[in-house]
Amino acid sequence: MPHAQPVRKYDADRDADAVDRIHREVGWLGGSLPKPRADARERFIRDSTAIVADIDGVAECYAASMPGSMLYRGRPIAFSGITSVLTSRIARQRGLAGATTAALVRRAALDGATVMGLGMFDQGYYERHGFGTGAYDHYAMFDPSLLNVPYCRRTPVRLTADDCEQMHAARLRRLRAHGAVSLDSSATTEFTARRSDGDFGLGFRDGAGGQLSHHLWVNPDRPGTGPYKVLWMAYETYDQFVELLGLLRNLGDQVYLVRVVEPGGIQIQDFLDRPFRRHAEAKGGTYETYSTAVANFQFRVLDVTRAVDAVASAHSAEVSIRI
Ligand SMILES: CC(C)(COP(=O)(O)OP(=O)(O)OC[C@H]1O[C@@H](n2cnc3c(N)ncnc32)[C@H](O)[C@@H]1OP(=O)(O)O)[C@@H](O)C(=O)NCCC(=O)NCCS
Repeated sequence: MPHAQPVRKYDADRDADAVDRIHREVGWLGGSLPKPRADARERFIRDSTAIVADIDGVAECYAASMPGSMLYRGRPIAFSGITSVLTSRIARQRGLAGATTAALVRRAALDGATVMGLGMFDQGYYERHGFGTGAYDHYAMFDPSLLNVPYCRRTPVRLTADDCEQMHAARLRRLRAHGAVSLDSSATTEFTARRSDGDFGLGFRDGAGGQLSHHLWVNPDRPGTGPYKVLWMAYETYDQFVELLGLLRNLGDQVYLVRVVEPGGIQIQDFLDRPFRRHAEAKGGTYETYSTAVANFQFRVLDVTRAVDAVASAHSAEVSIRI
């Protein structure tokens, strides 16, 4: 594989069409985007550190990252998240993705990030760039009518993609478990929220001055009986988490299956009545309930001194490093 491919910063005027084509060729974009979604995508790119690699003067590979923070032992550490790595159909297997990824790693280190992370397409590739696989995410598929929390008797507010600034602020304030990551730009929330017309949010404005305190955002894979995928939940207290589960239970007369990525420190099974019976009854069917675990994310250290500092925090530590 050739190395040291030349890369350069993305330039919207010069590269927008080529980068659009790359996204379409890999299947990350299809059809024409409605204007709000196209605008959200443009903002997402603008708020990113975006790098391209050319063939014959045309961008054929695109990679991007965004700054954020990771909660490590209760303290935020500076984080950079790789959000895209794509190579066009004519440019594969010549090291362009590797070169743009390496440029992002270098840039994030220079910008002061302690740790970098990404969602991997598969395991194996990013190890070449120093990444290792993180913890499992647990996906819980359950019948919301079997949640053992009280129905939510308060009326929630409806949220739409137009509320993305408030939703993003609430996500940044959310109760985070060890290792949880937030990306700074609200473009991340807006771009996801505008992905599909049928997606919706429900929440409560219990914060000072009516500030959004807790909410969830849902993609009804199949409107009607579901499955409904909860794309994110944001809450500041565990009582608020239980209230959000209550909202899902409210939908349980109609919706047969909900998918939640378990927040850190939570086991959805604790909140279900007779989960084994339900699993046996629904086995093999469209609404089968089950939990599955997969590690989707990889991470690497960028600043060893600060990373060791975060691990050691108040305690003294002896560290030996093999390079
Ligand atoms: C993934 C992708 C960006 C790679 O682009 P590329 O420019 O062809 O990649 P590179 O030339 O830098 O690297 C290719 C090398 O990686 C290797 N590789 C690819 N996947 C691998 C894996 N899972 N494990 C180990 N090696 C892997 C290839 O075998 C090849 O190695 P070789 O040259 O030693 O044979 C490209 O396939 C793509 O755009 N896919 C669709 C979008 C996508 O999934 N992006 C990743 C998001 S995380």
